[in-house]
Amino acid sequence: MRTQAALYQEIDLELSWSEAELPERERTKHVHRLHPYLGKFVPQLAEVFLGRYAAPGDVVWDPFAGSGTTLVEANAFGARASGCDVSAFNCLLMRAKTAIYEPDLLLADVVRLSARDKPRRRAAGSAYLKRWYAPRAIGELLAFRDRVDGTAYPELWQVVLSRSARSARLARHDDLDFPAEPAPKEYFCHKHRRVCRPVGEAEKFLRRYVRDAVQRVQEFADVRTAEEVNVIHGDARVLDPPEACDLVFTSPPYPGLIDYHEQHAYAYELLGLGRRDADEIGRGVKGYCEDIAAVLVRARRALRRGGKIVIVVNDRRRLYDGILDAAGLRLQDRIIRHVNRRTGRRRGEFYEEVLVATP
Ligand SMILES: C[S@@+](CC[C@H](N)C(=O)[O-])C[C@H]1O[C@@H](n2cnc3c(N)ncnc32)[C@H](O)[C@@H]1O
Repeated sequence: MRTQAALYQEIDLELSWSEAELPERERTKHVHRLHPYLGKFVPQLAEVFLGRYAAPGDVVWDPFAGSGTTLVEANAFGARASGCDVSAFNCLLMRAKTAIYEPDLLLADVVRLSARDKPRRRAAGSAYLKRWYAPRAIGELLAFRDRVDGTAYPELWQVVLSRSARSARLARHDDLDFPAEPAPKEYFCHKHRRVCRPVGEAEKFLRRYVRDAVQRVQEFADVRTAEEVNVIHGDARVLDPPEACDLVFTSPPYPGLIDYHEQHAYAYELLGLGRRDADEIGRGVKGYCEDIAAVLVRARRALRRGGKIVIVVNDRRRLYDGILDAAGLRLQDRIIRHVNRRTGRRRGEFYEEVLVATP
């Protein structure tokens, strides 16, 4: 176990941005904040390592692509990017972030979505919806879902629907990541330090997030390149990268930290997406090292000569020395960065490691 002082000696200050150096609006620029997602890295980290180890025109692979941070940044950098994720919602989010949007069609969609048809009088919500939403919110969410059919960009609006559904849940504001129980009555909110009321509607969020989504995809359109982005829905243990790659940039799930399906349970419910919880790595420690090594072996085989595999992880159990070994990789560098923790009620220091490996 390192002492705190020894840890500080090792920290890479260049990558340990302070709030002033890297304010929230930069960390959440354009499509990176299209939808909340717990467990992503800041886009600037991808930017730095693309700059160090890739060149425009290169091919980048992320086997645990999550919310698509690597894909978005690789595209903006001028690289061709492919990513895989086992979660259908994450893949939908990535496609929505990286699609090309025609301004006229976007506008026509916005007009169609803002039609004020009456919400269904008796919303036929599922047991899940009835437990987590006020009746009015269910009606508004389901009416919006109906209007999405026939739009030019249904996946973008499904992401907006999901984001609104997240905000409209009967969840405490200080427990939005994994609320265990609905909060149907007033409660003392630790985030706002006052008594808060449960949300009764969804329409205000739908309107706000439609506008926000349009602005974000247009901002990304200004910086994106014409390079191809390829999103693959699947299990990275059994999938090879679609082509030889020059850089693998990824952050694997870690045992017992985040349930990547459950954090978007409302989206699976509303959008009728199939869940693959059993294929999600990191649900337990058992088999974890073998699973990650299997993914890295496929990445190593696809790597072009001189290519690097860069892994962002908070390896508190020191599992990665053995994993890299088992995957036939050699550790070239272990960079430690101090991560700013700002949200919710989490406290304390938080570190992230960036492992740079080669065959
Ligand atoms: C730490 S997150 C990646 C976050 C990503 N770097 C970002 O910035 O959004 C890990 C991802 O691995 C995915 N995952 C878990 N098991 C997987 C598997 N067997 N195959 C592919 N992806 C998997 C999870 O769904 C999750 O999105």
